[in-house]
Formats: sequence, structure tokens, C-alpha cells
Amino acid sequence: MAIDRVDAYLDAHRDEFVEQLKDLIRIPSVSAQPDHDEDTKRAAAFIRDDLLRMGLETELIETKGHPIVFAQSPYRPGVPTLLIYGHYDVQPAEPLEPWLSPPFEPTVRDGNLHARGATDDKGQMFTHLKAAEAWLKSVGELPLNVKFLIEGEEEVGGANLERFVAENKEKLKCDFAVISDTSQFAPGMPAITYGLKGLAYFELIVQGPRTDLHSGTFGGAVANPCNALAVMLASLKGADGRIQIPGFYDPVVPLEDWERAEFAKLPFSEAEFQAGVGTTSLEGEAGYTTLERKWARPTCDVNGIYGGYQGPGPKTVLPARAGAKFSFRLVPNQDPDVVAEQLQAHLKTVCPPGVTYELIVHHGAPAVLVEVDMPAVRAAARAIEAGFGKPPVYIREGGSIPVVGLLKEQLKVDTLLLGWGQNDDNLHGPNEKFSLADFHRGTRASAHLFAELVKE
Ligand code: BES
Ligand code: MN
Ligand code: MN
Repeated sequence: MAIDRVDAYLDAHRDEFVEQLKDLIRIPSVSAQPDHDEDTKRAAAFIRDDLLRMGLETELIETKGHPIVFAQSPYRPGVPTLLIYGHYDVQPAEPLEPWLSPPFEPTVRDGNLHARGATDDKGQMFTHLKAAEAWLKSVGELPLNVKFLIEGEEEVGGANLERFVAENKEKLKCDFAVISDTSQFAPGMPAITYGLKGLAYFELIVQGPRTDLHSGTFGGAVANPCNALAVMLASLKGADGRIQIPGFYDPVVPLEDWERAEFAKLPFSEAEFQAGVGTTSLEGEAGYTTLERKWARPTCDVNGIYGGYQGPGPKTVLPARAGAKFSFRLVPNQDPDVVAEQLQAHLKTVCPPGVTYELIVHHGAPAVLVEVDMPAVRAAARAIEAGFGKPPVYIREGGSIPVVGLLKEQLKVDTLLLGWGQNDDNLHGPNEKFSLADFHRGTRASAHLFAELVKE
């Protein structure tokens, strides 16, 4: 059978695939840092060359930012078309100090490949490239039509992909999409993710006196922007963990009993989770479990605070300015633009006297929920069983992948979120890793997905 030849090809090329992935990871394609613009170009070219070598019609498309790689198999009527999305850009590696091996020198420890981008998303994305290669090199053709859309601005919420999708609907036309850029539920428990959170990201800059002042001669008489910022940030969330912006919860769809029951069935230990993150206790919105808070309730986190004196030793200063970056994770039905308006109105009511502020609205993304009761999801479940030896559990995630909403809105297609990562992969943090066993299992699952989607 064709699939046996594909599996044999995958088995025979395991080590070669890992070496190729290491070569891709060595390219520090950090989309946020302009110093690395040449590297993002090189990473895009690397992927283009890999797709070209397997015989796909491939283009490298320049944008105002980082390039997009698009490839497609020769069109065959009568079989479905699958769009595979991935991103070759990575988060900055800094701070470098906690890394046990250099972030862009992939290093295997305990069966895990450690490097920036190992799981997010180079390693996961690469599984689909190698699955396509296996079909093309062993069978000579793919069992369905495949299109690859690999971008380089996912981590910076770039607007260029949005434009590209809107302007190329015919080119991207497909029956469903697949993305591997999420995690399994636990080791040995592969998952299909049916929900992602949205994102609304802001920066608040508070201005006080004209210049920095002596905190003894002026303090107590002149408003301090650091103090004012703290007051404003503290007003966002109550002691009960609820967001205190009027209207914020209005569109939120309550968690249904059946879903709470499904979450509760998953083997999840709050104590182990707490030990894993190393905090003294867990917190969050009153009345919800940790999984419910992480997956299905909106949240608010400050991502960074600046202002005042940051150098060694004390400095008695009343700073002129302070700022913070903070974001809300949204659930289905919440609109990032509406949240921005509600936040503006709220800040007016809580800003202390003596300071002014500016609110910068950074990128946003809507939350997504994918229908689980679909033939394509059943095909994905069979493919996961073939790759991982176990059927998937169905989960939601707290992270965001902006393209999922875009594909639904522009192309009207649903996305299969088949994540091969683990929760402790430390994506965006130091010592990011990806299990090589999961890399190979994911590759096999992808190869089987191509065949299973045709059967539905
Ligand atoms: N791969 C992640 C999203 C993710 C991580 C989903 C873990 C589920 C579990 C993606 O690369 C990412 O980092 N997304 C950003 C959003 C973006 C707009 C910067 C995020 O979630 O912070
Ligand atoms: Mn990602
Ligand atoms: Mn990411």
C-alpha cells in the first residue's frame, strides 16, 4: 500500500530530517529584531529550497516585512485541498543567561532538541514538510492537493499576512487548513485543540512633571507617574481575579456544563501544575478551575513595566514618565476593538490627578472555536492514532494564533490544530525544546493525515 511506502521512507530518513531541522534552527530568524532581517530572509529561502527539492511549485513572496513562502502540488480534481500553515520566525532568545546551550546551536539532551524555535514553530512546521516529501519521494504524488503557507511575522503580529490572505483568496482556496503550533495535553496524550484565545495588547504611557525631580523636595506635592501607573494597572483586576472594566464580560459566552465536565475528566493535577511553574499558590478568577481559567476564561496580564531609576543602588528620584505593556487574552465572541474602546473609557475614570497618559493599541486577534463534529476532525484523530499510537483528547489552549481567525473570515475554512509540543517546552522562554520522538510521531501523523482526509 502507498502509506506503507511512505512510512518506510519516514523511518529510513529520521536522522537526516533531524539534521535538516537543526540547520533550519541555526538560522536566528528573530522577526522582532531588525538586526536579524538577513536571517529571516535566509530562513524563508531555506524553506523555499526544501519545498522546491520535493518538486512543488514554490514561490518566495516579498512583503513590506518578512517574506512569505507559498508552495502547491499540481492540482488534481476530485480530491480535497489542504492548506498547511506554519511560521519560520521565532521569538527573541534574550535573556541569554539562563540558556544551558546557545539558543541557536540546537543541542540534544534527554531526547529533546533544545533551541529557540525548536517547538515554536520550526520543529512542528517541519513535520508537514517532511510528510509531503515522504509522499512525493516514495509514492510520487500526494493523495490530496496540498498548499503550504509559511510566514515570518507570526511572533510580531504582522499585518502583512492579513493583506496577503485578503488579496490571494483564489490562490489559497482550500477545504481545510492544518496548523501544528500548539501542544499535546501531556506526554503520551496527544490532543486536538478546538479552541484558542484571542488577544488585545496595549501599552500605557503615563506622563507627570516636565523632568525627573528630587523625590524629597517634590515628593508628596507632585503626582508620581510610577505611582499613578500602579493605580491604573491595579484597577484592571479585582481581588476575585475578575477584570473590572465595565462591559468587558458582556459578550463572553458562559462555559457550558458539558464542557466543564469534559475538562474535569482530563487527568490534570493542580498541585503538579503549581510545582511545575514553581509558585507558592495558584490564583485566578474565583469559581473556576485552573484548566477553565487557562483555556476558557478571559485574563489580564501585565507583560512589562518601565519607569524611574533601574540602575544599581538607590536613587531618590520622582520620575517624569512611566509605562507598561499589558494584554488581555480573550474568549470567543469578544472583539479586540471593543475591548480597546472599553479600556479607554475605563482609564478615563481611574487616572489619578496630576498626570496624563497615552494608550497605544498594539496588535489583536479574535479567539477561535473549531467545530469538533466534522469529518476532517475524525480524519485527524485517526492520523494522530497512527502517529502517536493513541487517540487524541480534545482540549483548548490559552495561546493565540491570529491566522486561524483570518482563514475562517477570509477563506471560510476551519483549521485543524494538531499540536505536537509539550506544555513544558518553554516556548518564548529559555531552553525551549522539542521532543525528537514527538517530531517523528508528528511527521508520521501528518503523512497519515493526507491519506485520511481523502477517505472522508
Ligand atoms: N505557537 C504560539 C501560540 C500557542 C502557544 C498556542 C501555546 C497554544 C499554545 C504562537 O507562536 C504565539 O506565540 N502566539 C502569540 C500571539 C501573537 C499575536 C504574538 C501568543 O499567543 O502570545
Ligand atoms: Mn507559534
Ligand atoms: Mn510563539
